Amino acid sequence: MKKNSSCMVALALTSALSSGLIHASECDPGEKVVKFSHVTGGTTHPKVILVNEFAANVNREMNGKLCVEVYPNSTLFGDSKELEALLLGDVQLLAPSLAKFGAYTDKYAVFDLPFLFKDLDQIIRFTKTSEAKELLNVMEDSVGFVGLGYWMSGMKYFTANKPLMVPSDAEGLKIRVQSSTIAKEMIRAMGASPQVMAFSEVYGALQTGVVDGQENTWSNIYTKKFYEVQDSITETNHQVLAYLFVTSSEFLNSLSEEDRAQFLGLVDRATESANKLVKEKDAVNRENILRAGGKINTLTTEQRAEWVQTMSPIWEQFEPSIGKRLIETAAGA
Ligand code: LMR
Repeated sequence: MKKNSSCMVALALTSALSSGLIHASECDPGEKVVKFSHVTGGTTHPKVILVNEFAANVNREMNGKLCVEVYPNSTLFGDSKELEALLLGDVQLLAPSLAKFGAYTDKYAVFDLPFLFKDLDQIIRFTKTSEAKELLNVMEDSVGFVGLGYWMSGMKYFTANKPLMVPSDAEGLKIRVQSSTIAKEMIRAMGASPQVMAFSEVYGALQTGVVDGQENTWSNIYTKKFYEVQDSITETNHQVLAYLFVTSSEFLNSLSEEDRAQFLGLVDRATESANKLVKEKDAVNRENILRAGGKINTLTTEQRAEWVQTMSPIWEQFEPSIGKRLIETAAGA
């Protein structure tokens, strides 16, 4: 960050908060530029807030050494390209959904099992277990990705142009999913057709009828305005959407020991902040949807039992690749 004053930093922060972007020109020539790319937008999304806060902290506390540039809303790389860019060293920091790592590891599918996590507290407890901490490094030897921490987005809900009160209400519909094998199986179990699509394309696809529905968190449904092009949201709470704050070993190894320690200290602070912030933002964005005219349906106990029953065979199907012990640790967290 340019040293010529706190004013410069303040300006950068203001611009980061309003647009989510810290421009390259605000970095000093001697600083190592660290690109942080992500796909979410708006001002109330937990990922947007956390990434901007993390960038501001690094740029202030590691001034002269590192300069984080933030590229939100798929402006640098979208879903299909960001992990490839990390592999190639074209970006240094990402926070994709754990559901998007299927090409690199089977293990993160544990975060995707339907109805495994009943709320955000359970998954946050799971991320603090030694099993979940070990998983942070599961891709290091194969592709050099290093997990820095788990950040939550929220529980997921189905949206469509009709109320999906039981799974069979989705029969024949085309439902957008992330690139996750479990998500595809879940949609097939509902008698619907899964359509894998980049996050940046979902609003347009819902609007034009390329897909009929999707599943996401309050924060994504609100900040991407999906409620504008979907008549109905069902509070299914069927899965969690969690992110892996991730870098590459190439980037970490390029830092001096002292800089790496300072950087990793700021990383841990961001993850602590993530766990504190998410529930509040989740609630705010649910309210925002209602205030904007979105329609939210809640399930009866019997309806919920139907969802659980339809999706329970998926656990058995994925147990061999995820591992029984890992599933048990998550279930018991
Ligand atoms: C999605 O693709 O629906 C989400 O993973 C987007 C995100 O990063 O929250």
